[in-house]
Amino acid sequence: MSTAAALDAVPSATDGVPAFAVIPGAQVAQALEGREREIVDVVARTYRMHGAGETGNPPSYFLRFPDKPNSRIIALPASVGGDVGVDGIKWVSSFPDNVAAGLPRASAVLILNDHRTGYPFACLEASIINAVRTSASAALAADQLTKGRTRPRRVGFFGVGLIARYLHTYLAATGWTFDEVGVFDLNPESAAGFRGYLERHDAATTVRIHEDAESLVRSSDLLVFATVAGEPHVHDPAWFAHHPLVLHVSLRDLSPEIVLGATNVVDDVDHCLRANTSLHLAEQQVGNRDFVHGTLDDVMAGRVSPVSDRTTVFSPFGLGILDLAVGKAVYDEIGRAGGLQVIDGFFHELQRYGQGPQQDSTGR
Ligand SMILES: NC(=O)c1ccc[n+]([C@@H]2O[C@H](COP(=O)([O-])OP(=O)(O)OC[C@H]3O[C@@H](n4cnc5c(N)ncnc54)[C@H](O)[C@@H]3O)[C@@H](O)[C@H]2O)c1
Repeated sequence: MSTAAALDAVPSATDGVPAFAVIPGAQVAQALEGREREIVDVVARTYRMHGAGETGNPPSYFLRFPDKPNSRIIALPASVGGDVGVDGIKWVSSFPDNVAAGLPRASAVLILNDHRTGYPFACLEASIINAVRTSASAALAADQLTKGRTRPRRVGFFGVGLIARYLHTYLAATGWTFDEVGVFDLNPESAAGFRGYLERHDAATTVRIHEDAESLVRSSDLLVFATVAGEPHVHDPAWFAHHPLVLHVSLRDLSPEIVLGATNVVDDVDHCLRANTSLHLAEQQVGNRDFVHGTLDDVMAGRVSPVSDRTTVFSPFGLGILDLAVGKAVYDEIGRAGGLQVIDGFFHELQRYGQGPQQDSTGR
């Protein structure tokens, strides 16, 4: 393995041989550290491109296992046009039982492909990119959906694993401050771990661990769902009588009744109404999609404005284009710093009819 000096934004080819870099998690984390506002801008720009039809984001493929019904591996192929100009795929596993064994639930890789040749040019550790793009998207939604209003000061985290931690980091880094942070998790160890993280990073804020879900919902103006629930477990619309803003990142927590009574904003309508999400269940119940008010791009463009006398629910399915855009930003940053670890000779069979007798092993 060699470290290539400052590869360009477009992958370099040495003597016509496409380069291929492997980017481990430590480099990804370093490239993203302290760049939260920039990454929120990358996500906003990507949503605008998606709204303008400059992206390709076919449905995700779900690989499921009869012997492990709570687990899955998802393939998210995507293409981002414009000045980003990159194609690729994220391959992300969700194995919730890992947590009890001391391993994170999710693991992922992201492959970036050159739009001119189709050649893959990088493989990135992508669990951090996954958490970052999800949190940047939620922080963007929280900002856009509270424009022109007083920002919520009481946040409630419902399910507090890795995503909740990153989401809190992104909210804090994009200017959110809270009088109180409420926490509810079925697992007391998770709640205690999250409290420890909050106390280390935001000592001034009061942290309240709730013993029941209702008390968390009723006392939060901004609610973040980041559980691993496979079907709705929050059913009573009366809990939402104070009309909080809900970031429904885990997608399957709310009953169709709660969804149908809310202003619903999504990242992509077709994607969100699939795979038994709460919105998909609501569609099956009423037979139409009229309860979806628009996308985050519609909100950013002023085509949709949530009203304050209804609960607003943001449901992001999680688009592969965000992984690509953030992954490309990471790749470019590491390339600029001269830190790309290129695998020599990764692509080997490059002569259409094989090598002539005069050629050496490099194909010359
Ligand atoms: N929409 C997106 O783009 C997107 C992207 C990434 C992750 N996610 C989702 O975010 C969720 C959280 O991911 P994570 O990596 O933080 O998982 P995690 O396993 O690290 O944490 C999940 C936490 O939720 C708790 N929990 C589970 N069911 C609960 C319930 N019914 N009530 C309260 N707490 C409950 C668990 O005890 C655990 O502490 C997952 O569902 C994941 O699929 C969504």
